[in-house]
Amino acid sequence: MLVNFTVNGRAVQVDVEPRTTLVDCLRSTLRLTGTHSGCEHGVCGACTVIVDSAAVRSCLMLAVQAEGSVLVSVEGLSREDGLTPLQTAFRKHHALQCGFCTPGMLTTAHALLSKEPDADEARIRSVLSGNLCRCTGYIPIIEAVLEARAAYRKKDNS
Ligand code: FES
Ligand code: FES
Repeated sequence: MLVNFTVNGRAVQVDVEPRTTLVDCLRSTLRLTGTHSGCEHGVCGACTVIVDSAAVRSCLMLAVQAEGSVLVSVEGLSREDGLTPLQTAFRKHHALQCGFCTPGMLTTAHALLSKEPDADEARIRSVLSGNLCRCTGYIPIIEAVLEARAAYRKKDNS
């Protein structure tokens, strides 16, 4: 089936089987391998991308369901000339080790702070509780997201 959507500002058309998941489409068809595939059944959050401004587990969504949507993957959160404030905060606070969970952490945090730049620690913890990390102990991740809020308040987050 032909499916049309926008990803990271680029209009794309992909030819996928109806059963193809969005994560497989992103990684295998579009070669956007920054989106990681972990549990493949909605538990770990590693595959999280932003679909029409909402954080979505791309292993639980079919590619055909993305028809007409605007997607942002972790690649779309980067810029050419350096790190974004969220990425800078992750580096400063050592919020990643192996990095497997990091794309999902970044997309989830970006979706949250874009809508709720004043999210408090409890809210951030609640939203990120669906993203599993086996390395960091979560504290550095929470500290990084808390620090990044200032850039989202000023809308200086890209
Ligand atoms: S790979 Fe999608 S939630 Fe784990
Ligand atoms: S940094 Fe390794 S799983 Fe999170």
